[in-house]
Amino acid sequence: MGVKIFDTTLRDGEQSPGVSLNVEEKLRIAQQLARLKVDVIEAGFPIASEGDFAAVQKIAQEVKGPVIAALARTSFPDIDRAWQAIQEAEKPRIHTFIATSPIHMEFKLQKSPEEVLQSAVKAVERAKTYTDDVEFSAEDASRSEREFLCEIFTAVIEAGATTINIPDTVGYATPGEFGELVKYIYDNVSNIDQAEVSVHCHNDLGLAVANSIAALENGATQVECAVNGIGERAGNAALEEIALALNTRQDYYDDRTNLELQEIYRTSKLVSQLTGMDIQFNKAVVGKNAFAHESGIHQDGVIKERTTYEIMDARTIGLEENQIVLGKHSGRHAFRDKLKELGYELDDEELNKAFKRFKELADRKGEITGLDLEAIVEDQFGQSLQVMDLKLLQITTGNGLSTATIHMEKQGEKILKSVCSEGGPIDATYEAINQAADLDCQLVIFKIDAITGGKDALGHVTVKVEHQDDVYIGRGVSTDIIKASAVAYNNALNKILVASG
Ligand code: KIV
Ligand code: ZN
Repeated sequence: MGVKIFDTTLRDGEQSPGVSLNVEEKLRIAQQLARLKVDVIEAGFPIASEGDFAAVQKIAQEVKGPVIAALARTSFPDIDRAWQAIQEAEKPRIHTFIATSPIHMEFKLQKSPEEVLQSAVKAVERAKTYTDDVEFSAEDASRSEREFLCEIFTAVIEAGATTINIPDTVGYATPGEFGELVKYIYDNVSNIDQAEVSVHCHNDLGLAVANSIAALENGATQVECAVNGIGERAGNAALEEIALALNTRQDYYDDRTNLELQEIYRTSKLVSQLTGMDIQFNKAVVGKNAFAHESGIHQDGVIKERTTYEIMDARTIGLEENQIVLGKHSGRHAFRDKLKELGYELDDEELNKAFKRFKELADRKGEITGLDLEAIVEDQFGQSLQVMDLKLLQITTGNGLSTATIHMEKQGEKILKSVCSEGGPIDATYEAINQAADLDCQLVIFKIDAITGGKDALGHVTVKVEHQDDVYIGRGVSTDIIKASAVAYNNALNKILVASG
């Protein structure tokens, strides 16, 4: 049986604390999700903000293949705004929701069950005037009265909902109980054969994937999930874990997804980089240690026969060994072909820039891996919105003093700043960039990773900068970590400048 994968990385995932993506970044993730061949991309919640609207609209205009869904509460302005955002999509869906549990209806909505039911029906009818594809979610379904849930699902299907979604909004359900709830709905909603049955599980007790799988075992046909399991609080069910559970245990599950599994690793990395949310080392499927073997007995077993200790092949998710793919003598053609293989299609100007960086790196490192190439191109995409360009950075440091001199170009204007600080070189650099940008902002997170091993590895710096209650993520890549730090900080400040017009 086919299972539909409804990806909510850009909506529920983007609601993760500390995550904020701009329109370009959301588009890049949506394009990658299309490559991964998810069935539905929930692109955002258009009424929530102008930025959300713009991102959903852009994705609807540009991303082909999956259904593009927009979230809306049951109020008409929400639904109208959702439609405005997705109307140009190849396959648009309006996803409307209202809470159905006694606690939410009484305290949050202050509405009676009858009012909630009417509101849901009217919302679905309104959405149906725009598109045939309408999903209805009963928020906090797992803590709702079962009879009421069945009543509201029957009514919204009657009104035209083509998908009904059963969220475990607060991650309270357990697998046996949640599977049973799905079965109860199949048995007690008379017109259920006219709708897809979807589930949306949160991970507060670490049971989101188990609950989703239990729902599939009981007939659910769509599962809502997010890449790397990101989302509100402890997150949503992790897409890659559901996909690999169904794929690895084909002997046990009949369900199949349409996913291009080889794109999983790349999607996971992209989401982690753009959101600034690290993947825990021991995370199933995509964690750094997921295919690593430490104990001698395990290593010995794997060398003799991989399947002694590996139930999945890393290549299934597109995780290749960190192979050398190009060297310093490689030319443009080889470079372009390799990028194509990695899924990047650059125009001539972008290719020239990337090639120049590749040559610089190859001169230092000699051997370039796929991870290096991805880092160069991702960094280049990330730096495309420059209001303020860091042209030169010079550092002197010693005896407890550091001086950073920068040459910045801000909308054609040349700015020179020199700052001497009792802190380290990065402190001095950031203060110089602050002075050039003339912004009141706060560095809240600073992180350095190495892209590959070795002392000549590319350093990848991620920063989070707070400005007027919003958080902006900046990234920078260089073999020189002070330069990478400066580029990352400048990248975040550029996003603030772009956002503030
Ligand atoms: O968790 C939830 O209930 C939701 C709904 C909007 C589907 O995210
Ligand atoms: Zn949710």
